[in-house]
Parts: sequence; structure tokens; C-alpha cells
Amino acid sequence: MKLQDIQANWDKFGANDPLWSILAWPDKSGHRWQIEEFFATGVQEIAEVLATVAALGLSPERGRALDFGCGVGRLTQALAEHFAEVDGVDISQAMLTLAAHYNRHGARCRYHLNETADLTRFGDGTFDFVYSSITLQHMPPRFARAYLREFLRVLKPQGVLVFQLPDRPRQWHRRLIQRLRPTRLFRLYQRLRHGDRPVMDMFGIPRPQVVAWLIAHGGHVVAVQPDDSADRYWTSFRYIVTKNVQTLSV
Ligand SMILES: C[S@@+](CC[C@H](N)C(=O)[O-])C[C@H]1O[C@@H](n2cnc3c(N)ncnc32)[C@H](O)[C@@H]1O
Repeated sequence: MKLQDIQANWDKFGANDPLWSILAWPDKSGHRWQIEEFFATGVQEIAEVLATVAALGLSPERGRALDFGCGVGRLTQALAEHFAEVDGVDISQAMLTLAAHYNRHGARCRYHLNETADLTRFGDGTFDFVYSSITLQHMPPRFARAYLREFLRVLKPQGVLVFQLPDRPRQWHRRLIQRLRPTRLFRLYQRLRHGDRPVMDMFGIPRPQVVAWLIAHGGHVVAVQPDDSADRYWTSFRYIVTKNVQTLSV
């Protein structure tokens, strides 16, 4: 799967029931999300995340935040209630067009189309807070790993990174499907089954591998907490990470 395939998928979701493709609550399919209710879920999520960060004794500056995989800005706008400036990054222009339409914070929320497997548009140490939720789970692990490395690079020395990422499917037969997924036969099956319709693919990285990767790229893993935002078939975690100051001082 290439980034262009992921992009085409999300542009289709963005053009057809975008809010439900972001929060696929069963009773909300068919354009049944009320806008206020949808954005209120983001306000609640960010308040809870920041309370968790504070409870761990972390207090990032409230300057600049990054929302990676911002969709229509559900969490970007919520972050703008706590940070002076927020950059939302997404691979789908359809999603970003809606994000601009719904934006209530003027220039304090900036939205960017990112079509590459890196974040080179942002310099090292740009952000006080980097957040990503229900996004890394929709791309093959090689992309998720590359973005995790980038999150640490664009984080300020005293900044905080929080992201959600599934670990693995709960059931053995779903784990088997994950192993078959990269094969040609499986891709052919998917093409025959779904045709041109967009598919909500799910991926994960086992928790020990995520922790090892973060440490290898200069992260200090403060906490890993169970998370229930992936679908019910997956175990998922929220990672709270700072920069490893020892690595920085070397
Ligand atoms: C399920 S939605 C979540 C949106 C937002 N995080 C929220 O919770 O409201 C996933 C979003 O990730 C975006 N996305 C997927 N792959 C991406 C990538 N490689 N870079 C940036 N955004 C990506 C999709 O376009 C989509 O808007």
C-alpha cells in the first residue's frame, strides 16, 4: 500500500459521510452526526488527555501544538482552546476543505496537506505538544514508524508527545488476517470484495516494538496506557512521551 492509495481512500471518505468515517459510531452513519455533538467529543478528548498529562507531572508550554491526521479539525479546534497556535496536518484535501469550513479559531488553527511520509515542512523542535489519535492505525507500520520518528524530531526539548496506536488484534484469526494482508492474494481478494469503495484498513504495532522505536529515536516513554479508541477487535494504547534529555545533552 502506497501513501497515494491511503490518500485516495480518505478523499473518498471525506467526500462521502466524512464525520462518520472519523468517528464510526453505529448510530451516526448516513450523515447523522450533529456538528456540535461531533466537535464536543474532541473538546472532551483533549481535556481528558491534558488532565492525564498534568497528572503525570508534565506541563508543556501552551505555545504551539501539532494535530497529526487532523481530519475535519475535531481535535485541532479543541487544542486551540489550550494552545496559542495549532497546526493540523492531513493527507486528504477533502478533509482539509471541511476543516477550513468548520474552523472557529481563524489563523490560530492552520491546516496543511501533507502528502509525504515525513514532516519536513516543520523544523526541528517546533512544537510544545504533538498529538495524534485514530490516525496511525490506518496506515502500514512502516509509515507509522516514520511519523513517530518525525514527531520526536519536531517536538521541543521540553515538549510532550501523545499518540494512540493499536497493538494487535484480540482474536487469533484476525491476527492471521494481519499476517496475510501484505500478500498479493489478499490484495486481490480485497479488490474483488470492495471494488472502488474506500476501505477502513486497520494496522497496529506491538507495544514493545513501539517503545523500543521511541527510545531508539530519542524518546523517553513516560507512560503507556490502555486506550479504547481503536475498534473493539484490537487492543490499543496511548503513549505519553517526552524527549530523552540525556540523549539531547550528549
Ligand atoms: C479516523 S480519521 C481521524 C481524524 C482526527 N484525528 C480525529 O480524531 O478527529 C483519520 C485521519 O487521518 C488522515 N490520515 C491518514 N493517513 C494519513 C497520513 N499519512 N498523513 C496525514 N493524515 C493521514 C485521514 O485523512 C483522516 O482524516
